[in-house]
Amino acid sequence: MNKERKLIIAGNWKMNKTVAESLDLARSLKIDLASVKEVDIVVCPPFTSLSEVSKAILDSNIRLGAQNMSEHNAGAYTGEIAAGMLKEFSVRYVILGHSERRQYQKESDALIALRAAAVHAASLKPIVCVGETLAEREAGQMEKVLETQVRGSLAGLSKELMAETVVAYEPVWAIGTGKTATTAQAQEAHAFIRGVLSKMFDEAVARRVRIQYGGSVKPSNARELMSQADVDGALVGGASLEARSFADIIKNSI
Ligand code: 13P
Repeated sequence: MNKERKLIIAGNWKMNKTVAESLDLARSLKIDLASVKEVDIVVCPPFTSLSEVSKAILDSNIRLGAQNMSEHNAGAYTGEIAAGMLKEFSVRYVILGHSERRQYQKESDALIALRAAAVHAASLKPIVCVGETLAEREAGQMEKVLETQVRGSLAGLSKELMAETVVAYEPVWAIGTGKTATTAQAQEAHAFIRGVLSKMFDEAVARRVRIQYGGSVKPSNARELMSQADVDGALVGGASLEARSFADIIKNSI
């Protein structure tokens, strides 16, 4: 597929996989995806598996991501994980502001912006998630919600750092529900987000930012979604937990 930006497809394992299960999956992916050069491939295991997965994917084309990170470098923040700790395992990407964290941990756009700055300060790359709920979409609020989240979660970044930031559009109603946004709905939201980035930064920056789609991505719908002009990859939940389906999503997107 001839794309303006290199595709980035990441597996968000969420709160799944023991260390042994993570190793099985990582080892299979390393073999199944060894020949893929066209796509940036990322896996985001739970923190407890980062160490072993990091070793398992050494010398491969698979990069490691974390599912969250503190805005602080160290100190009395029970349960939090700092950038320096992630870097010990060669983590390159950090998912921030996933809708599950916005919902269950009440993460705000302001907190996500602080974390995005901390991720960049550590020379890691944030994957910043945005997305509307079904109620918001049905109330005609999609654009307002997305603009508020994009402006709030990416506030304060320089143009250079914004260009290195990945945005993930994950409509909340499509996550884990089997309901995928239609290609037209995905393209419309992605183009809208790119437009907001253009207003916030400039057009050149907006054209460089990779925007992933997330929400019930499967081998069967990956190709059509990735063929959209402003869809530059995927953030995959359920279908990333099995080597075959994650590898097929990537292969079908090339
Ligand atoms: P599913 O692919 O399971 O719908 O999850 C999407 C997601 O939340 C990825 O971050």
